Amino acid sequence: MADNNWQLQPYLKERVRFVDSALDRYLPGADTLPTRLHEAMRYSVFAGGKRIRPILMLAACEAVGGEMKSVLPAACAIEMVHTYSLIHDDLPAMDDDDFRRGNPTNHKVYGEATAILAGDGLLTEAFILLSDKSIQAAIPPEQFCEVINIMAKSSGSRGMVGGQVVDMEAERSPVDLPTLEYIHTHKTGALILAAIEIGALLGGATSQQRRALCRYGEAAGLAFQVADDILDIVADQSQLGKDVGSDQQRGKATYPALLGLTGARQHAAELRERALTALEGFDLSAQPLREIATYIIDRSS
Ligand code: IPE
Ligand code: IPE
Ligand code: MG
Ligand code: MG
Ligand code: MG
Repeated sequence: MADNNWQLQPYLKERVRFVDSALDRYLPGADTLPTRLHEAMRYSVFAGGKRIRPILMLAACEAVGGEMKSVLPAACAIEMVHTYSLIHDDLPAMDDDDFRRGNPTNHKVYGEATAILAGDGLLTEAFILLSDKSIQAAIPPEQFCEVINIMAKSSGSRGMVGGQVVDMEAERSPVDLPTLEYIHTHKTGALILAAIEIGALLGGATSQQRRALCRYGEAAGLAFQVADDILDIVADQSQLGKDVGSDQQRGKATYPALLGLTGARQHAAELRERALTALEGFDLSAQPLREIATYIIDRSS
């Protein structure tokens, strides 16, 4: 449990290492046939993401006193889904970006066809991992299907993919605030909420705790994308590890475009407060989640 000396940065660093070594174990090796595809999948996964979704899942489990061991496969699965979404998001047919996680984007290195298939491979691999017999043993049977259901819904047309399509449509016509909120809560919020809800579920949350954590996940998920919009304008490209200024260039629907930078920052701060309020009934075990809510809106990458 967190104490007064608890610090976020070492905690994040340690969790990144924990998640990375599990991802390395779970993903097919680069020498497994078809080698070029597995190399492409690994290229994007290990390019250096923040791992915020798996870390949130582990932190939600921790907040309700659960065991991290039972969450690790699902935590890795959500990072695979997220990495797939980034590979596809960067494709010429979508955001057409050249840099991701400090490296050339997947399609720049492996070509579009392999990048599409590497994304497909990662999405599918996530569900292979979740449904694997050895993994099932770590998950209580009654929660097994629910976890897969949450992961699938939050990834597909009712979640991330749904948000992505409206994001693309919005490049051609200006959107109002409710539509922008739809885009952000779906393209980004859905997976972040799923990370929290699955962590809560596998950690053995009561239904009241689960509802509170979901309120946290909704606010934190939206805040994360509002901050991403802001970073696209104010961040340093080498620190961010991906192209900056590309939202404005493509006429993207973003919070700064609609509310201005100050308005967007204010909104992010309100969402952080909403996330913190949702955690009021939790003890120090939820301290990582509290600190992460601040990190989400204050981060520089
Ligand atoms: C970037 O996600 C795309 C969004 C959904 C905003 P992250 O900012 O979590 O990217 P990585 O995983 O750290 O590279
Ligand atoms: C990304 O939104 C959402 C997903 C990848 C699902 P952005 O297009 O703003 O993400 P970045 O800025 O390219 O990481
Ligand atoms: Mg995009
Ligand atoms: Mg993008
Ligand atoms: Mg962005």
